[in-house]
Amino acid sequence: MAAQDLVVALTGASGAPYGVRLLQVLLAAGRTVHLTISPAAAEVIRAELGLIVRIDRFDPRPLLGEIPIKQIHYHHYQNFQAGIASGSFLTAGMVICPCSMGTVAAIAHGLSQNLIHRAADVHLKERRKLILVPRETPLGVVQLKNLLACAEAGAVVMPAMPAFYTQPRSLEDMVNFIVGRVCDQLGVEHRLLRRWGESEFQALLPNE
Ligand SMILES: Cc1cc2nc3c(=O)[nH]c(=O)nc-3n(C[C@H](O)[C@H](O)[C@H](O)COP(=O)(O)O)c2cc1C
Repeated sequence: MAAQDLVVALTGASGAPYGVRLLQVLLAAGRTVHLTISPAAAEVIRAELGLIVRIDRFDPRPLLGEIPIKQIHYHHYQNFQAGIASGSFLTAGMVICPCSMGTVAAIAHGLSQNLIHRAADVHLKERRKLILVPRETPLGVVQLKNLLACAEAGAVVMPAMPAFYTQPRSLEDMVNFIVGRVCDQLGVEHRLLRRWGESEFQALLPNE
């Protein structure tokens, strides 16, 4: 355990590429990650990336390739014995990416029915950074109220909405935009996106 460790949870919203890219970037930045994956997330990863993730016997390689194994600590989503279930376990924050509406609802109402909900609850009560990356459209009134409740409790809600002012040329650019903005929130340095105001970026704008 170190106060610089980050918690990352993947849940069953569309947007598995965001979660996988986020993990790659955090690991490449040398951060230690406590990872947990819901069963629905494993289904979505299979549907969107064609990768099989076994949540009962987790092997990071299909998802992340060869990585420094010491940097990743996997916790089964039902394992309440995991350190991240307790506020005494220090972390630098938690990201749920992508974040399903079901998980948003559980966090909004403090249900703590699995380790993901509990770790999120812990981050809120400890006043640590909790970043939610929902992917749903349109948003219903119940979902909006739940997102508001999470934001009022201290979460940062960052919908997976790539910008177009960066003139993305590929899906990878769009994924990097969202992941880069999440990294900004975490204070993790990166060069994943062009920033408004950067001279190289201004040169792309049409002449007036
Ligand atoms: C392929 C696929 C895509 C889905 N996309 C979304 C989505 O974008 N947003 C969402 O809230 N739920 C989505 N769902 C439904 C959730 O996976 C479902 O509500 C699940 O119970 C969420 O559980 P979890 O929060 O424990 O991961 C999707 C399900 C599947 C199979």
